[in-house]
Amino acid sequence: MIPHIKEPQNEWDDTELNYQYQEVKKIKWYHNILLNRPLKVAIVFLLLTIVSPIVLYRFVFFTSLSLPPSDGYSVGSCVISREARLPCGVGFMTESECHTHCCFDRNLHMCYHRIPSRFSYIMNQPWTEYTTLQPRIATVPFSFQNSLPKIKLSINEQSTTHMVLTFYNSRNISIVGNRTFNTEYSYEVSSPELNVIVNATQGTIFDMARGPLIASNNIWEIAFKLTNESMYGLGEIPLKTNTTKVLYNNDRSFSSIPLIYAKINNNFHGLLIDVSDPTEISIRADNQIVLRSITNFGFKFHLFSGPEPKKIMQDVMKLIGHNKRLEYWMLGIHICNELPEMDLSSFISNATNGNMPYDSHCGHEPIVFNSNQCKNSEISNIDRVNAGASLVRNARKKFVPHVSPYIRYINEETNETMSKETENLEINEEEIIESCKIIPTFNDIMYRSQINSELYKGIINDYEVLYPSYDVNSENFMDILWAYNTELDGIILENNWPLDHTNNTFDDIDLYLPYFSENFEDAFKNTPKWNLSLVNSSELYLFKHIKYGNNFANAFSKKTNNTPISSSSLWMNGRFAINRQNIDVSWTNLHRELIATAIGGISGSWLWSSPICGDTKNYDPETQASLCIKWYLAATYFPLLKIHSKDIPRHPLAFNGTHKAIITQALNRRLGLLPYFYTTLQEGPLLRPMFYQFPSSAALHDINSQFSVGENLLIVPNLQPFQSHVHIWLPPGTWYELWGGLKLEGSEGDPVTIATTEADFLTLIRGGSILIYQKEARLTAEETRLLIPFSAIIALECIKTNYTENCHASGKLYVTPEMTLFLEANEKNITITAEGNDFDPICDINTGTWAYDFEYFNVYGLYKEYNNYDNYREVRRFTDLCRLEYDSEIVIDLLQ
Ligand SMILES: *[C@@H]1O[C@H](CO)[C@@H](O)[C@H](O)[C@H]1NC(C)=O
Ligand SMILES: *[C@@H]1O[C@H](CO)[C@@H](O)[C@H](O)[C@H]1NC(C)=O
Ligand SMILES: *[C@@H]1O[C@H](CO)[C@@H](O)[C@H](O)[C@H]1NC(C)=O
Ligand SMILES: *[C@@H]1O[C@H](CO)[C@@H](O)[C@H](O)[C@H]1NC(C)=O
Ligand SMILES: *[C@@H]1O[C@H](CO)[C@@H](O)[C@H](O)[C@H]1NC(C)=O
Ligand SMILES: *[C@@H]1O[C@H](CO)[C@@H](O)[C@H](O)[C@H]1NC(C)=O
Ligand SMILES: *[C@@H]1O[C@H](CO)[C@@H](O)[C@H](O)[C@H]1NC(C)=O
Ligand SMILES: *[C@@H]1O[C@H](CO)[C@@H](O)[C@H](O)[C@H]1NC(C)=O
Ligand SMILES: *[C@@H]1O[C@H](CO)[C@@H](O)[C@H](O)[C@H]1NC(C)=O
Repeated sequence: MIPHIKEPQNEWDDTELNYQYQEVKKIKWYHNILLNRPLKVAIVFLLLTIVSPIVLYRFVFFTSLSLPPSDGYSVGSCVISREARLPCGVGFMTESECHTHCCFDRNLHMCYHRIPSRFSYIMNQPWTEYTTLQPRIATVPFSFQNSLPKIKLSINEQSTTHMVLTFYNSRNISIVGNRTFNTEYSYEVSSPELNVIVNATQGTIFDMARGPLIASNNIWEIAFKLTNESMYGLGEIPLKTNTTKVLYNNDRSFSSIPLIYAKINNNFHGLLIDVSDPTEISIRADNQIVLRSITNFGFKFHLFSGPEPKKIMQDVMKLIGHNKRLEYWMLGIHICNELPEMDLSSFISNATNGNMPYDSHCGHEPIVFNSNQCKNSEISNIDRVNAGASLVRNARKKFVPHVSPYIRYINEETNETMSKETENLEINEEEIIESCKIIPTFNDIMYRSQINSELYKGIINDYEVLYPSYDVNSENFMDILWAYNTELDGIILENNWPLDHTNNTFDDIDLYLPYFSENFEDAFKNTPKWNLSLVNSSELYLFKHIKYGNNFANAFSKKTNNTPISSSSLWMNGRFAINRQNIDVSWTNLHRELIATAIGGISGSWLWSSPICGDTKNYDPETQASLCIKWYLAATYFPLLKIHSKDIPRHPLAFNGTHKAIITQALNRRLGLLPYFYTTLQEGPLLRPMFYQFPSSAALHDINSQFSVGENLLIVPNLQPFQSHVHIWLPPGTWYELWGGLKLEGSEGDPVTIATTEADFLTLIRGGSILIYQKEARLTAEETRLLIPFSAIIALECIKTNYTENCHASGKLYVTPEMTLFLEANEKNITITAEGNDFDPICDINTGTWAYDFEYFNVYGLYKEYNNYDNYREVRRFTDLCRLEYDSEIVIDLLQ
């Protein structure tokens, strides 16, 4: 029961400014003040005018304020600076719409929460897993709906660095968290008014700060803080005030899992927002994070105490799973052409004649299933898909088709003429055709309109489509859907948030949802209508939308067993590679792709594919060619890449002269760097933000214009048109320009400016590392790996002592799980050793997949007299790695 006390406590800061709500309505607030408390008000006014107009500006009056709470709990103050106010309900509204337990600012027409907020939950005993929490206020500020009468908080200590907070509606379920010894975090749940604070060694890492916790039908809201310093994530480095993101997969959503990195001093912690219902995340002033979710379950958060970003990533990957299927060719170059009137065989022969490197092609066009999908149906696309696959295969490339989840609806009635033609078929065959038709056989798993139970038909381009629900047990369904008898090397799942071009209107949605903002509206566009459902279920589509992409990917992975899958719109899922799509060509988007890839990588999606030069129709080859070139140069360092031409070609053959030469060189260089990428991706992400790679260098944390590539390389892309210089902020250690060996002078955090040209892409190598790469390339990643000898760039890190200088560098090459080569160098010699015994991939002439030899060794950082080029010494020495089968090491003299 709620305890009562008679008088409100005296702790009101704003006593003078409280009046009965009703009175305020009739009279202007200053009249009210003057009439009631002339003296005090005069003093207040005097102070205000003298003290500062800034104070006036920041705190301008809220008025109204209402009923002191009768329950004896905290009163809450309305004196909150404008920026720091959290909207109560939708925020901007009229006074009568503003809940009486909120504050109202008449100048701005802003309804906002008190601090502490009165919308919170209370308990009549100290918190345990079993304690029922009751709402302090019976109604919520959203449409004055009733608060949920009973919720619970469960805290699960999943590991010493990972805890889970679940605020949930306890009507039907009960969650009991586990306890762990020696956790690196401690938490405090206060009572009777709920507030949660979590501390770790670095400080307070989660604090509800007595902000609102609102729970009602189809709307939950919570506010909390993670830090007073910078945050990173949700596709942003850093995550700035006023950013709003919506969790509801759509054609523009940010793809990575909703993980926020936050820092305190140079320590990091992480918060993963584990909700599968539509959710709006706003970052407000003072680093307050406000979540509003269209949910009836509640909120689940994972909190990771770090304190290194790497530790957070590892904990996240334990949760979301990890893609263990990296094959070398996947790092190569993938092409898909959706060009009107393009002939695939002509493209392939042009590519072959032009020595264009690529590894895979998607065939004639992306696959869309038909509702009369049938192995022996005349009108399905099966023969065409199979034929495309053969063309690609015959060119010795991989076949990696693109597949969408929806099913093209083919209206049989309008095709009567055709059915009549086939009437002379034997009855047997007709039966077969009938039974393998998707409609009506699988009618029950298609989404339908709730109103009339008719199959819902969305619109894609100019045809109608159906949306199957892939979460129902669907093996038989998948067998019929995937009627192509060709083998797959890989598959790319696209448009699977899923896409729908139907012009959605949201006029009626307010009747059902108490909170629906413009941000939601943007996200809900181009997705199937929110209130669909399945035939045997009352659950609305909008609650299943976020998992749609996952379900589609899971259905495919069951069907195709071992085929590598990349997919757009995954949810909390690290088991598949990420396919980015719908990227328009612009400098901003190039920058966003780099940031998104880096954030995605450290959130656990190491295999992240981004389309070079975008993949939409918005590309102008006349004016945007130089941007496209820079994009190709940047893509050298993307973990996975795709060249996807929609309507306007942007594959290398679409370029001319020097442009084409630069592009080909960039692609070849990528193929040559793959040994390093492949090694790096065994144990970490490829592209990394500064704060992840250099957590102890505070000056670098917020920099989003340079990225680490593995541990040893740093790229500084051009991000503006006609840019003739780039600026680098030097990380700790020694850095050399990658291909020329020029040592950058400066100390940690110093800005350095370097001139660039159209064909340049500034890349640095860390002193102390050895880069193993291949100087040239063949037409695929696998051919390059096998046929081009390795070379090494040895970037020395030297430590001067009184008499001498000691230099060192090391590197490695991952070959197979049972075989890794290690290279160690000093200023005189380099030593190669092998760990493991699996020499066949290198040394077996028939089955080998790797080159067996080293050719060039370039040494950076020697005294000038040893250099035989401007800034480095090059030593050419053919070295047969197979000697390691018998010798324990190979030593090469670098100064000879
Ligand atoms: C607690 O641990 C048990 C046993 O390891 C596990 O089955 C259960 O799911 C855990 N509970 C939670 C809430 O994770
Ligand atoms: C967390 O840290 C703050 C400030 O250091 C301290 O006041 C509070 O008591 C701590 N809470 C817990 C649960 O350790
Ligand atoms: C956030 O938005 C508000 C209102 O649009 C604006 O006054 C404020 O300056 C913005 N804050 C930041 C940090 O951009
Ligand atoms: C291949 O090259 C020929 C001759 O240059 C050209 O006519 C044709 O359009 C090209 N095909 C494709 C698909 O680009
Ligand atoms: C009827 O069949 C033809 C192929 O014979 C197909 O191109 C057309 O799209 C079908 N019509 C409809 C409405 O689906
Ligand atoms: C949706 O509306 C826009 C503008 O109102 C229109 O151009 C477009 O054709 C419509 N699309 C469909 C599929 O009706
Ligand atoms: C290549 O250059 C030639 C002449 O400069 C021009 O006619 C042709 O259209 C160009 N091709 C492409 C694909 O830009
Ligand atoms: C190096 O020189 C410094 C002063 O120049 C001296 O203090 C130090 O002992 C010397 N170290 C060695 C190893 O000789
Ligand atoms: C390589 O160089 C180091 C440092 O000069 C030296 O100690 C070592 O003996 C050399 N190794 C061989 C095999 O020459």
